[in-house]
Amino acid sequence: MTFREDGQAALEWAARYLERVGDYPVLAQVAPGDVRSKLPPSPPEEGEPFANVLRDLDEVLLPAMTHWQSPRFFAYFANTASEPGILAELLIAATNQNGILWRTSPVLTELELHVADWAAQLLGLPRGWHGHIEDSASTSTFSAVVAARHATGGRVVVCSEHAHSSVEKAARMLGLEVRKVPVDGEFRLRPDALDLTDACCVVATVGTTSTTSVDPVPAIAAACRDAGVWFHVDAAYAGSAMVCPELRWAFDGVDRADSLVVNPHKWLLTPMDCSLLWTSRPVDFRAAFSLVPEYLRTADAADSLGAYGPALGRRFRALKLWAVLRCYGRTGLQAMIREHVRLAELFEGWVRDEPGWELSAPRPFSVVCFRREGTDEDSERLLGAVNSTGEIFISHTKLHDRYVLRLAVGNERTTEADVQRAWDVLRREAAAL
Ligand SMILES: Cc1ncc(COP(=O)(O)O)c(C=O)c1O
Repeated sequence: MTFREDGQAALEWAARYLERVGDYPVLAQVAPGDVRSKLPPSPPEEGEPFANVLRDLDEVLLPAMTHWQSPRFFAYFANTASEPGILAELLIAATNQNGILWRTSPVLTELELHVADWAAQLLGLPRGWHGHIEDSASTSTFSAVVAARHATGGRVVVCSEHAHSSVEKAARMLGLEVRKVPVDGEFRLRPDALDLTDACCVVATVGTTSTTSVDPVPAIAAACRDAGVWFHVDAAYAGSAMVCPELRWAFDGVDRADSLVVNPHKWLLTPMDCSLLWTSRPVDFRAAFSLVPEYLRTADAADSLGAYGPALGRRFRALKLWAVLRCYGRTGLQAMIREHVRLAELFEGWVRDEPGWELSAPRPFSVVCFRREGTDEDSERLLGAVNSTGEIFISHTKLHDRYVLRLAVGNERTTEADVQRAWDVLRREAAAL
C-alpha cells in the first residue's frame, strides 16, 4: 500500500465516522481496563500494514470512544472539530512545521500572528494586541500568571470561587497563594469583596465553567488599574460568542485586560487543541519568558513565539484556525453561535414550563443548569440513568451545595430534534426512577 492508498482509506474512515457518529452511544459504555485488555501486551517486532491500524480502530478502539463529535454530546462544553479543521490537521502533520524560531518556520510564526489578529478583529478586540496560540486555556492562563508575577512581584492570584481550576493550578505550580472571592446570587465575582493585598493578578471569567456566569469585568478592571495589579480574563468557552454583536454586552470592559484567553477548540469549530492568548503587554511577557540559548541565537529581526509562553517547539496550529476562519467566515461563525444559543434557550423554556423541574442558574450563552425536584442522590441517579442509555451525554455541577445537571449545546451537528430528544430522555428516565 502507498501513502495515497492508505490516506484514501483513512479519509474514507473519517468521512464514514462523521456520517454515523450520531448512531453510536455518546458516552463510551466500557469499564476501566477494557481497552488495554484487548491490546497486545508487547509492541510488534516487524512493522505492520497501516490497514491493520484502521481495522483495530474499528474493532478495538471505536467501542471505547466517547463521541465528542456526536450531535447529542451535551456534557462539559460541547464542541466541534469541523471538516476544514480536520483536513488542516492532516496538512499540519504532513508538513510537520516546528516554530522554535522564526527561521525554523517563517510561515508558522507569521500565520500564527496573523490569524490571532484576524480572530481579534472578528471578536471586536482592540487593535494592536499581541496574540499567539497555546495548547490549552490552562497553559494560556499559566503563562499570563507568570507574566503577571514577573511584572508586579505580587504573591497572590485572585479569582472567584467559580473560576476554573486551571487558575488555582497555575498558582500552585508557581508557589503563589490563591485568594477566592465570593460570588453573588448569579455566580458572579463580588467586586465589593475584592482584596488585592499583595496580589499579582486578578482572573475574571466571562463564561464560568459551571454556569457560564459573567464576572463584572469593568469593576474588576478599575480595581486592578488602581492597585497596579495585572488583569487576566478567562473567556475560554464564551469568548467565541463575541463574534455576535448582540452578545458583546457580556464582554464589556474586556478591552481593559492585560491578557485574555479564548479557546477556538471550545466554541469556534477548531479541533483540539487551540487556545488563543492575547496581551496588551507583550513586553512583560517577553521579560518573563524570553531565554535564548546560544544554539538558537540568530540575527533574524523577528518575533519568536516561544517568548510568550513555556514551550519552545510549537505545532502549526495556526493552519487549522486559518482554515476554519476562511471556510466559515464571520457569518458562518455567527450562524453557528446563534443557533446554539437558540437551542439552549428553547431547552431552558421547556424546563421552566415543566412542573417538577427547575432552572438553577441564569443562561447567558448555550449552557442550561437545571434540576428535577428531589434529593441530590435522585439527581445523581438521573444523570447516571440518562448517560447509560447512550442516547445523550450530559454532565453535572454543584450550585449552592445542590447537585445540578448541565446541558451544553456546542456541537455543529446538533439540531432541534437532538435537543428535543435530550429532553425526552430526561423526562422518560426521571419517570422511570
Ligand atoms: C472557563 C474555563 N477556563 C479554562 C478551562 C480549561 O481549558 P483547557 O482544557 O483548554 O485547559 C476551562 C475548561 O473547560 C474552562 O471552562
